[in-house]
Amino acid sequence: MVSKQTTQRLFFALWPDNRTRNAIAAVAKQATGYHHGKLIRTDNLHLTLAFLGNIDEAQRDCVEAVAESISITPFNLCLEHLGVFQRAKVLWLGIKEQPDALMQLAESLAVGARACGIQLDEKGFTPHLSLMRKVNQLHEFEVEPIHWEVNRFCLVQSISHEEGVQYQVVKSW
Ligand code: 2AM
Repeated sequence: MVSKQTTQRLFFALWPDNRTRNAIAAVAKQATGYHHGKLIRTDNLHLTLAFLGNIDEAQRDCVEAVAESISITPFNLCLEHLGVFQRAKVLWLGIKEQPDALMQLAESLAVGARACGIQLDEKGFTPHLSLMRKVNQLHEFEVEPIHWEVNRFCLVQSISHEEGVQYQVVKSW
């Protein structure tokens, strides 16, 4: 008999602290005054570092070992401008300068995940926080910069419910 592998839909992300999360949610709410689309739930707001997709237990153990082996120096992000991914129709909040530490973290996770046999998106890493979906066009407005001190990264599970998707942190480093 062939045993059915259980898989989980997982990704690595930066998970905002409550103060930062509330500030991002305020910008997202402001954006609804300028855009038609679907607001992303406040408790789902995050910055994706590497999307792993549906992976099995052995791959999860492997990426956790990768995460364990990475040490990060805390860094600051300044969230301050808006953008739209035309094809995905996502309105996002971007960062002013992309610190080397952020790019290195995403790169180390991507290299490690590939070594675990996980196929990652070829598109590469464009740091952003998605605010709204189903947005066709950017209507700019001034964003009060948000300063975010990052000192950990997380493995997050994407769980689909009838009411929509829920992101749940399963581990952090
Ligand atoms: P986002 O970061 O642009 O919102 C969980 O699905 C998270 O992983 C989402 O935040 C999503 O996009 C990001 N992600 C990146 N690549 C993805 C893919 N190929 N499929 C689904 N989600 C992806």
